[in-house]
Amino acid sequence: MESLAHKELISAERLQKRIAELAREISGDLKGIDLLTVVCVLKGAFIFTADLVRHLSLPCRIEFIRASSYGDRRTSSGQVKLEHHETIEFEGQHVLLVEDILDTGRTLSRIVTELEQQHPASMHVCTLLDKPSHRIVPFEAHYTGFMIPDHFVVGYGLDADEQYRELPFISVEN
Ligand code: PRP
Repeated sequence: MESLAHKELISAERLQKRIAELAREISGDLKGIDLLTVVCVLKGAFIFTADLVRHLSLPCRIEFIRASSYGDRRTSSGQVKLEHHETIEFEGQHVLLVEDILDTGRTLSRIVTELEQQHPASMHVCTLLDKPSHRIVPFEAHYTGFMIPDHFVVGYGLDADEQYRELPFISVEN
C-alpha cells in the first residue's frame, strides 16, 4: 500500500522469507519433541501464526489466547486483559508463544507469568516484530523476525483501531 498516509516498511516477500527462516530455526532447536503447543496471541498474531506453522516440521497443536491492552488507542493502556488461557492444558507441554509485536513487553511478560503457573515442560517465545525503544518491562523473545524502529506499524495482523490487519505487508504512517 503506497497511499499518502502509509508506506511499506517490510514487504510481503521479506516477511515470507524471514518466516520460513524462523520456522527452520525453531524446528531445528525443538527437534525430537513429541508435540508442540503453538499459542497464537490474538488478534494481532493470527496471520503470522498461520504462516509460521505451515513451515514448521514438528507435530503441532494450535491454541489461541486473547490479549489486549491497546483498545482503540495507539499507546498501551498498561492493563493487559487475557482471555481463553484458563481452558487450555499447558502442564507438561512444550509451548511456543507466537506474537506479532513485542513493544512495552507488558503483554508477553503477563502471558508468560500466567502460563508458567501451569508448569509447561518448556516455553519459547517467537515475535515477528520487536520495538525495543518502547520497552517498559524487560523481556526478550527467543525468536525475533525483525527489529523495528519507533514507528506505529500496521498490516500483516497489526491494526490501527481495528483497521489494516488484512494487509500482506507491514506498513508505517508517513
Ligand atoms: C498488541 C500486540 C501485542 C501487544 C504488544 O496487542 O498484538 O499483543 O500489543 O504490546 P506490548 O509489548 O506493549 O504489550 P493489542 O492490545 O493491540 O491487541 P490486538 O492484538 O488485538 O490488536
